[in-house]
Amino acid sequence: MEGRLVLALILAVCTAIPCHGYYSESKPYVPPAEKVTQLYFFLHDTVSGKDPSAVLVAHPNFTTAFNNTPLPFGSVFATDDPLTVGPNLTSEVIGNAQGLWASTGQDVMSLVVYWDFGFTQGKFNGSSFSVFSREPVTQLEHELAVVGGRGEFRMAKGFAKIKTYFADLTTGDGILECNVTLVHY
Ligand SMILES: *[C@@H]1O[C@H](CO)[C@@H](O)[C@H](O)[C@H]1NC(C)=O
Ligand SMILES: *[C@@H]1O[C@H](CO)[C@@H](O)[C@H](O)[C@H]1NC(C)=O
Ligand SMILES: *[C@@H]1O[C@H](CO)[C@@H](O)[C@H](O)[C@H]1NC(C)=O
Ligand SMILES: *[C@@H]1O[C@H](CO)[C@@H](O)[C@H](O)[C@H]1NC(C)=O
Repeated sequence: MEGRLVLALILAVCTAIPCHGYYSESKPYVPPAEKVTQLYFFLHDTVSGKDPSAVLVAHPNFTTAFNNTPLPFGSVFATDDPLTVGPNLTSEVIGNAQGLWASTGQDVMSLVVYWDFGFTQGKFNGSSFSVFSREPVTQLEHELAVVGGRGEFRMAKGFAKIKTYFADLTTGDGILECNVTLVHY
């Protein structure tokens, strides 16, 4: 009995070590207990003015879709959008949404967003979660998919419920109310 136990232990140790140069044996994955965290904040996406948080990096030289708007079809913006606890930009800034979004709808204006939501205050300072999602901006309430995370939000998955708090269609500026549900380690 004891001999078999020792052999089993030796085998267990051996299989934990990469035996093929650059990869280990594939094993069944036992996930640790997951936690759920709810986040609530406002995102300020400012295209206009002297200090925009979203800047145009590329646009097509020709498009018929939404040509007379700040977001013609095919245009790509890079963002560093502040996240605040209240709807006003004067309220406490707790992080930023860095990434890209593109105007990708031809019939109905819509975006695809590639955003890393990072936090700079409190328990989640230094942690971030990743959004890669279609964003139907003309629907005043919509949802974004959360596809991953870093730090405290490692292996995050979830969703962000978005309500348009403010939108100016002539400038492209917007303030979004975000209610995020994250399941993570
Ligand atoms: C857009 O760019 C392409 C490739 O350079 C060019 O052939 C075309 O004439 C341009 N269209 C307009 C409307 O400028
Ligand atoms: C933010 O607060 C300032 C000063 O109190 C006020 O003038 C402004 O209208 C507020 N903005 C919003 C979006 O509530
Ligand atoms: C957040 O983390 C950074 C990097 O570790 C640190 O420099 C900063 O002081 C922290 N801020 C707060 C408010 O804890
Ligand atoms: C956020 O969404 C959750 C469910 O997804 C809901 O229970 C909660 O009331 C919402 N909070 C706010 C402030 O909207």
